[in-house]
Amino acid sequence: MALVLLLLLWSFVATSWACPRECRCSLDERGRRGIRCESGGMRDPLPVMNMGTETELLLISAPPGNPNSFTLGPIFKGLRRLEEVHITYSGIPALGAHSFWGLHRLHVLNLTYNHISALMDTNFRGADALRHLDLSHNRIQSVPSAVFRHVRHLRTLTLASNMIPELVPRIFFGLARLERLDLSHNPLGDLQPERFTDVPELRQLSCAGCHLSSISSTLLQTLPQLRDLDLRNNRLTQVPLGIASTALPHLVTLRLDGNHLSFVEKGAISGSPLTSLHLAHNRISRLEINAFANSSIKHLDLSYNRLSHLEPGALEDTLHQLHEIQLSGNSLHVDQLLTVLPKARQLRRLGLGDMGLTRLPPELLRHSRHLHHLNVSANYLTTFSTEVLFNAPHLRSLDLSLNSFRGLDDAFFESVTSATELRTLRLEGNPWQCDQCHAGPLLRWLQDAPDQESGCDEPRVWTCIKCIGPRGVAGVVLSLLPPGDLPACPFTTPSALAVWPTWIEPSLDVMTDEPELPRGQLTRQEDIDIGWSVKKMMREEIYLVIVAGCVLVLLLLALIIVGIVLYNRHSAFYYTYEDDPDKKQKLMRFKESKNNNSTPTKMPAKGQLDATIATIDEMTDIDGSQEVLEEGQNHAPNHSPAIVSNHSPAIVQNHTPNHTQAINHIHEETHTPDISHNHTPPPSHTQSQNIPLENRPSSPTL
Ligand SMILES: *[C@@H]1O[C@H](CO)[C@@H](O)[C@H](O)[C@H]1NC(C)=O
Ligand SMILES: *[C@@H]1O[C@H](CO)[C@@H](O)[C@H](O)[C@H]1NC(C)=O
Ligand SMILES: *[C@@H]1O[C@H](CO)[C@@H](O)[C@H](O)[C@H]1NC(C)=O
Repeated sequence: MALVLLLLLWSFVATSWACPRECRCSLDERGRRGIRCESGGMRDPLPVMNMGTETELLLISAPPGNPNSFTLGPIFKGLRRLEEVHITYSGIPALGAHSFWGLHRLHVLNLTYNHISALMDTNFRGADALRHLDLSHNRIQSVPSAVFRHVRHLRTLTLASNMIPELVPRIFFGLARLERLDLSHNPLGDLQPERFTDVPELRQLSCAGCHLSSISSTLLQTLPQLRDLDLRNNRLTQVPLGIASTALPHLVTLRLDGNHLSFVEKGAISGSPLTSLHLAHNRISRLEINAFANSSIKHLDLSYNRLSHLEPGALEDTLHQLHEIQLSGNSLHVDQLLTVLPKARQLRRLGLGDMGLTRLPPELLRHSRHLHHLNVSANYLTTFSTEVLFNAPHLRSLDLSLNSFRGLDDAFFESVTSATELRTLRLEGNPWQCDQCHAGPLLRWLQDAPDQESGCDEPRVWTCIKCIGPRGVAGVVLSLLPPGDLPACPFTTPSALAVWPTWIEPSLDVMTDEPELPRGQLTRQEDIDIGWSVKKMMREEIYLVIVAGCVLVLLLLALIIVGIVLYNRHSAFYYTYEDDPDKKQKLMRFKESKNNNSTPTKMPAKGQLDATIATIDEMTDIDGSQEVLEEGQNHAPNHSPAIVSNHSPAIVQNHTPNHTQAINHIHEETHTPDISHNHTPPPSHTQSQNIPLENRPSSPTL
């Protein structure tokens, strides 16, 4: 016993903990001996000889400008105590045979951001304690059957962002304890249920961006332990059947954002234990009645879909239990919201951004006493009722950015100050009118150093609130303006000031004052308040005048064009009868005569009139594409500007199909072929390596 102790002590002293020159060596937060080499530029051979045998954590990475480039042989032989190995951004082209042999303590192997193109049967032999294997962001095209059978204790396997074209049979053989599998961003196209029979314990499956167009319900039945299913950015057209069935008794989170769903079927998730359903960025225009009946949904994300109305019964059953609903980016009218939201009394988080709202009626949120987060960003709000803040005493964040606020009154900031739980208030991107009346209360509040964070780049520093007007202070950061320097109110009639803020005045609401804000493709919703409809009428009158003006101008233009065309019937004649050899000869003769008489005085009077107008032909000549044009159509007349210039370019184009063809031809040739969507599966090595398990060599014994 003493001998053993002595031996241990000796070995401890003898193996002084060496550190390679380009690395840092230190204990990590768990007291493990770690070597970190992150300066980059490392080449073969790795300085493993300088690494102490006691090393437990090895991290080799590189900054973007100075990547590593080396290979992995059986270099870790002397580092038997390694528990974690992270080698990233190092250009590793492949894993050697038995590279990790004998690393019986290795738990984490992270080889992301390398150039590995294939996995081989011998790669993971001997690393029998491995729990987490991350091979994402490589170039893996082939993963042979049963390649992971040597790492039977694996819990997490990440193969995301590779080029795996298909899952070969028994690919996950031996991974009976696997809990998390990430296959995202591989061009798989299909998930065959049989491939997943080897991983019955899977809790989390991700296949985002896998080009999937459907999910079979058999697959879901194969994975009864599933809790979290991420199928974002695929091509699914419906919520996978079987979610609603009892096949997945533990499913909690389902992500289907960015798919091609156009509606949510009746009973699509009825009876499922699902609590989080993410359906953002689909094409959903319809939620069928009872779509969520008997479900346990608490978090529902429907943002950026095409919902324009809500069936009364669609959400009915879930509303009372909803903690979160995201409706941003839909063109739901505020009246639609009024039929739904007041029933959602448990709501914690509400997203109503980018919906074209011009008003937010306080009764919308009268019953949402538990609201923590309210987002009404990117709408057209000009006022915000303090009642909302009083009704939601636990509000933690309020996003009013990118609206049409020109100012906010003292009452608003008083209620903000008294909202003790409000941590974040976003106000940037509004057309702040920095005079005493509009921005005065805001500036006074800012100068009191509010507790809230601003959402500006520097937290709590309100530098992203900029003045749009009046002229003297446009573009200035509001919080940097001394309060005395705020310009006086534009129309300071004291009564107007006291009763109602001046920004209501139509004279301030000229369209040209509107900032150009990114508010999706939605149009502003109609105002309903009587007070606002005056404004609206003014606006509509302006629109009417503009439209009428446009129509008049168009009519005039049309008249002029018709006149010109009639006037120049003869030249049009040449083109219409282009194929007629007689006419063509005539034209050629005319052309020759024109070329000979280069002085304008000898030109036909008609051509003389409009010779200054550039035609498409002239333009192409200038561009030097004359050769191509002529090559394409030797028989076509070489129009002189004097003849064709009478036509508007559009007409010329119509009459000279050959020219346009030739031009298109040029475009086609210079166009680089777009291969990004053209997925051609790389030559598959998988077949050859797909030998039956029985024929495989057994593990080597040492
Ligand atoms: C592997 O390294 C990458 C890059 O440093 C990191 O993002 C990822 O979380 C790591 N994976 C594991 C399993 O530690
Ligand atoms: C919801 O559950 C009840 C009772 O369990 C059942 O009668 C009803 O049909 C279910 N509704 C739907 C839409 O599945
Ligand atoms: C509010 O919603 C908008 C539009 O959907 C979004 O861009 C923004 O990030 C959200 N704000 C917060 C604080 O989540």
